[in-house]
Amino acid sequence: MQITKRPENMERITTKALADAFIEEQVKEVRAQVGDKKVLLALSGGVDSSVVAALLIKAIGKQLVCVHVNHGLMRKNESENVVEIFRNQLDANLIYVDATDRFLNLLAGVSDPERKRKIIGEEFINVFADEARGLDGVSYLAQGTIYPDILESIKQAEGKKAVKSHHNVGGLPEDLQFELVEPIKLLFKDEVRVVGEALGLPHAMVYRQPFPGPGLGVRCLGAITRDRLHALREADAILRDEFDKNGLAEKVWQYFVVIPDIKSVGVKEESRYEGWPAIIRAVNTTDAMTATIEEIPYAILHHITARITAEVEGINRVLMDLTPKPVGTIEWE
Ligand code: XMP
Repeated sequence: MQITKRPENMERITTKALADAFIEEQVKEVRAQVGDKKVLLALSGGVDSSVVAALLIKAIGKQLVCVHVNHGLMRKNESENVVEIFRNQLDANLIYVDATDRFLNLLAGVSDPERKRKIIGEEFINVFADEARGLDGVSYLAQGTIYPDILESIKQAEGKKAVKSHHNVGGLPEDLQFELVEPIKLLFKDEVRVVGEALGLPHAMVYRQPFPGPGLGVRCLGAITRDRLHALREADAILRDEFDKNGLAEKVWQYFVVIPDIKSVGVKEESRYEGWPAIIRAVNTTDAMTATIEEIPYAILHHITARITAEVEGINRVLMDLTPKPVGTIEWE
């Protein structure tokens, strides 16, 4: 991350016209910075990396090489959507890496949440670095750094004699050090969304709810197994579908399903049916430091329960987490 302060007179980007002017300026700057060199980007499908990708496609087209790593912990259809939008609609130079087995093999039997996070984070760098090493002529690394990241770094550096700029590019190994391209580093999140829409990205992508880096890995509690992860992905897709259909997606900041590693006894088709519970979490917050519980109408909850228990193999109960933060964190791990 290159630490640059936002000029005090910089106008807040709130309209399409302002976004268009910003985009035009950045297109010129990026072209001047990279010339005819190649730029690499880890494209997760999150808001920031997606907006950077769309901006750089506009500026330098196929000189941008996007790498999408599917760690096997994405939500249903998420990686497919990234490929559809960027490769098929925006004609991006996109490398899709299905690294599901690499991640799930490493995670097998690991139940400690911090250990799981560390494995996922490190393996992500390994997979990305493997791809980067296989490419010729890449000189730059694009990152979706935004202004709150810079403010955080400045805050951390406070008290020290000088603000230290970060040369450890994206946490990549020593043999892979690139110059950085950070076209949205002076923007706040709301501005990033306005710019994303002006670039023609789908509303759902630009306004999507936050999704943690370790993905479903921290919602499939304890040691991850493929069958429970599959059940989680399907139940989560039903929850998101029903929130979309019932106008809750705009009202609730973050909503998802968690599946613990316990089974209870149930009954299905007149036989004993042991299954996992699907736990629904739906919270509102402004800064993720505290969170409140959104009231979801019972009729919708009944319907979601009926769908999840009927459609998802292995789930025989649906529970609702009513715990605010504090005392519970938003994620369960
Ligand atoms: P907690 O669970 O700490 O979550 O109340 C606050 C917000 O942070 C997200 N979160 C993460 N995001 N990597 C991420 O990129 C992580 O390891 C991680 N853990 C939590 C969480 O989804 C919520 O929005």
